[in-house]
Amino acid sequence: GKVLVLHGPNLNLLGSRQPEIYGDDTLEDVNNLLREKAVMAGCDITCLQSNHEGELIDAIHAARLDGTQAIIINPAAYTHTSVAILDALNAFDGQVIEVHLSNVHKRETFRHHSYVSLRADGVIAGLGIQGYRAALDAVLAALAE
Ligand code: DQA
Repeated sequence: GKVLVLHGPNLNLLGSRQPEIYGDDTLEDVNNLLREKAVMAGCDITCLQSNHEGELIDAIHAARLDGTQAIIINPAAYTHTSVAILDALNAFDGQVIEVHLSNVHKRETFRHHSYVSLRADGVIAGLGIQGYRAALDAVLAALAE
């Protein structure tokens, strides 16, 4: 299998950014956890973080052509604003899992709506970095079918 993990804006600050909301683990910790799990399953995984909407869109476009079968994405603030990321994901044929570290539904109302959820096959929120583990489990199970 081939899986792309996309992290949106400000997630490079994970571990030092509002740890009371997002936890103490760094993005490198998240990526290492996912890479270890993927390697065990013989799965090719690429992890990318960007603060730029267009760079995330370009990565989704590349995934259409390079055999990527699933995208795990935490679009961060773009979740709530980006029709462009939704459109890019709509042009991708594989599985899409949306992950949020925090439970967006118990936060400000502007975080309750997600454009990406209109495309996502599954959505995980509020489980911290365990949410990424759960997302990869789901993807690996689907790829094994
Ligand atoms: C987030 C939730 C978003 O509302 C926020 O803008 C983020 C992170 C999360 O992982 O909980 O940057 O996607």
